[in-house]
Amino acid sequence: MPHRRHLWSGRFKEPLSELALKFSSSIDIDKALYREDIEGSIAHVEMLAACRIITPQEMRRIRSGLNSILQEIETGKLSLSWDKEDIHMAIEKRLIEKIGQVGGKLHSGRSRNDQVALDERLYLRGAVFELRKLLVQLERVLLYKAERHFDTLIPGYTHMQRAQPIYLSQHLLAYLEMFERDYDRFGDCLSRFNKLPLGAAALAGTSLPIDRAAVAKKLGFDGIVTNSMDAVSDRDYLIEFVSACSITMMHLSRFAEELVLWCSQEFSFARIDDAYTTGSSIMPQKKNPDMAELVRGKSGRVFGDLMNLLTIMKGLPLAYNRDMQEDKMPMFDSVSTTRQCLFIFSHMLVHTTFSRERFEKELNNDFTTATDLAEYLVRKGIPFRESHSITGKVVASAIEQQIPLGQFTLKELQHFSKAIGEDVFEILDPRRSVEHKASAGSTSPHEVKKQIVHWSRVLKNRIR
Ligand code: ARG
Repeated sequence: MPHRRHLWSGRFKEPLSELALKFSSSIDIDKALYREDIEGSIAHVEMLAACRIITPQEMRRIRSGLNSILQEIETGKLSLSWDKEDIHMAIEKRLIEKIGQVGGKLHSGRSRNDQVALDERLYLRGAVFELRKLLVQLERVLLYKAERHFDTLIPGYTHMQRAQPIYLSQHLLAYLEMFERDYDRFGDCLSRFNKLPLGAAALAGTSLPIDRAAVAKKLGFDGIVTNSMDAVSDRDYLIEFVSACSITMMHLSRFAEELVLWCSQEFSFARIDDAYTTGSSIMPQKKNPDMAELVRGKSGRVFGDLMNLLTIMKGLPLAYNRDMQEDKMPMFDSVSTTRQCLFIFSHMLVHTTFSRERFEKELNNDFTTATDLAEYLVRKGIPFRESHSITGKVVASAIEQQIPLGQFTLKELQHFSKAIGEDVFEILDPRRSVEHKASAGSTSPHEVKKQIVHWSRVLKNRIR
């Protein structure tokens, strides 16, 4: 009497050892895919009937069995414990238990390898939808803050050194652009993976007359994965998705880093409300930007998920290999981490105030308008390299005398270049510096207003 514990055990004389089963079972993790698995099975079984591989009565029995298993899982009546191997086996086994041997007809023309790829694609479709919604939410918060701080002047930095005065709105809108590209990236990745792998029948296709295109249509895919080997053996769709998550996390992390700095006493440019900060267990005066720090820290998890997946896949010959079972953990982790981080970040940003006075006070005491002086001299006909060097000398002298650029007299400035006239004082003012910018995409009021109008229109018309 052959051992019948597993649905595949026909050729085995001995049962799988409990140790090996425990080690290889993935149900603890892939049980989260039960909805996708049942949805896929229902579409498959309807197609089997339409193609006359099973009878309409058999299809109805299988379908209602699957629907009641869905209920059982949802109400916790069906236990999905480690002895079940994986979610696909657990559902099929339960189906046969419930409706008898006819349940065994469900698996015609497909394999678990197909099911894994299908369930993952269905799951990722939902994740793309959700993450894009959260990105739009964050973009809306950024737009709101940019509108409120349209003309708040701040020092712009390169190398973490004061560079030029800019508007805070320009700074915030830079992040909006990044998150919009993330939004596009998720959509772009979906457009490539929204194809049906089911019906690859493990690797070579099947001799049964199945209709894969019909299943694709039923499940909302834009067609089928054409090659049966490719359908079951690649995980590039998942790697691409996790890359998109990683890029989003990298953007969030940079922004988080900036908020951490700006909230420090040294900068004091921003303040996060108490509700989104934490205290120290020992130092009573502390107010820590933990949410921003955690977002920055959690980016490491998602980058790790990406490395995990790339490493799993890099040495695998075609087609399916069991190594690929390890792809679920990084998949779920990157979705839930990115989701949580986007969510908390939007809320934290709503509860962040920027200090207009602090920014402007800093700007009136620095050399951030030096480039404006160099460009002023260019307008007076001096070659840029020369004007750069003249301005450098002005700055060196200002540092020596410990005064900001605007405090030189005209006579003192003319000592550096005869081309300097009374009108120079206009451009040494940080506000005028910003107003004088003329190039497309610059921090000039005109260009920033243009961006705000653009994003208001884009985000208003976007349902999600
Ligand atoms: N649990 C496996 C996974 O997630 C699916 C089973 C693949 N098929 C097999 N014959 N082992 O990848």
